[in-house]
Amino acid sequence: MKRRDFLSHSAATAVAFGLPKTARAVTPQFDELKARSAAVQLAPPTYPKTEIWGYDGLMPGPELRISQGARVQRRLLNELPQASSVHWHGIRIDNAMDGVAGLTQAGVEPGDSFDYDFVAPDAGTYWYHAHNRSYEQVARGLRGALIVEEVDGPDIDREEVIVLEDWLLDPESGQLFDNFEQPMMMSHGGRIGNFITTNGRYDLTLSAKRNERIRLRIINAASARIFPLRLSGFSGWTVAVDGMPTGQPQSVDGELILGPAQRVDLIVDVTEGEGGTAQLLRIGDDDQLTPLVSFLVNGTASSVPRGKPLPLPPNPAAHAPDLADARDLRLVMSGGAMGRMQSALLGGERLGFRQLAQAGKFWALNDVAEMTYTPLADLSLNEPVRLKIENQTVFPHAMPLHGMHFREMLADGSFGPMRDTILMQRGERRSVAFMADNPGKWLFHCHMLSHAAAGMMTWMRVT
Ligand code: C2O
Repeated sequence: MKRRDFLSHSAATAVAFGLPKTARAVTPQFDELKARSAAVQLAPPTYPKTEIWGYDGLMPGPELRISQGARVQRRLLNELPQASSVHWHGIRIDNAMDGVAGLTQAGVEPGDSFDYDFVAPDAGTYWYHAHNRSYEQVARGLRGALIVEEVDGPDIDREEVIVLEDWLLDPESGQLFDNFEQPMMMSHGGRIGNFITTNGRYDLTLSAKRNERIRLRIINAASARIFPLRLSGFSGWTVAVDGMPTGQPQSVDGELILGPAQRVDLIVDVTEGEGGTAQLLRIGDDDQLTPLVSFLVNGTASSVPRGKPLPLPPNPAAHAPDLADARDLRLVMSGGAMGRMQSALLGGERLGFRQLAQAGKFWALNDVAEMTYTPLADLSLNEPVRLKIENQTVFPHAMPLHGMHFREMLADGSFGPMRDTILMQRGERRSVAFMADNPGKWLFHCHMLSHAAAGMMTWMRVT
């Protein structure tokens, strides 16, 4: 096997990383999560059904909901024509259950199964998605919401889980374009869809009451699209980002930006009058506003608005890291179209940009255009880490760290909220800090999924 074929040969990778080659022993009581193809009415009814890949054939996949500290037990049954695995994004999980094919487990081959069994230590809004060939599998629909409820939840009338997805459809046939490895896409902004859905619908309409208090759990499950959002007919507060409570609720005025894989929990009060429509809107490139969800206001929940909500209860890992003896790491992101990258390492050889492009690699992290056998850093358990990230490309990148959450180190010396994914705009330099408090091999990559496949992927080991 050539080193560059690393992630596509999960069985070979399993040998390289000493992973078990077959699925784990089958335990009878697990509920199944079937990865399979399905035909769904995605586009407007003048189109035929679209063939997608979905968990249990659904888009998004079934909502998984547990209470904090409870166990998730799911058997992935792979009915797809290629190997797959499930990653539980944002969960501070046992490493063996992290679902990264080629790093924490072997890909689950067609017809095989794998039992995921883990505890969710933090309450919040999380999600799950395929983590083998994710630039294809997630774009085909393998994604769903994972909600971990607080034992003592906030005072609300109801909640709505809002899964944002986009799809790249052939406008003639209404079917997904299967150009997942198209160089133009990989070297630019990634696979940005031309058809946006909320909970699988392009015209999601719900009802609400005046002065009703709703928790919105918004998940950006798109392959590469950044969603700039705005509320209309609501007053709202941010109470959590990437699942983790932010402390004092911050009032939402103006724009909220959600990069791929990021989540935000809002508590909103319906201020729109009866007969009107309150909306969650997407701000387009041209500043045009399009509704992602419309709430038709009918009836009144209470005669007066309730005012600022209380903070959510903190999660167990909410402490700020003590950086006295912190390890300093640096991650330089380079490459892409219109970038300055001349060359990078691939399979241990230095290749020029054109040769890299021929191998389907357009990006590099610290000069390496692929997932490496050696980690970016070997960390000891509970070691504090300061990681400086420099985006030397002209594209934005959303960077999640698996298994642990970090805090951004802000210019005034304070820490931002705890989160798992940082959105790096073009040219930005930012630093994050975290405690390496979860043992295992943890991926750190770009969640513009074709960027990850084209070189933006690394990992850290905590022992
Ligand atoms: Cu949602 Cu490796 O990530």
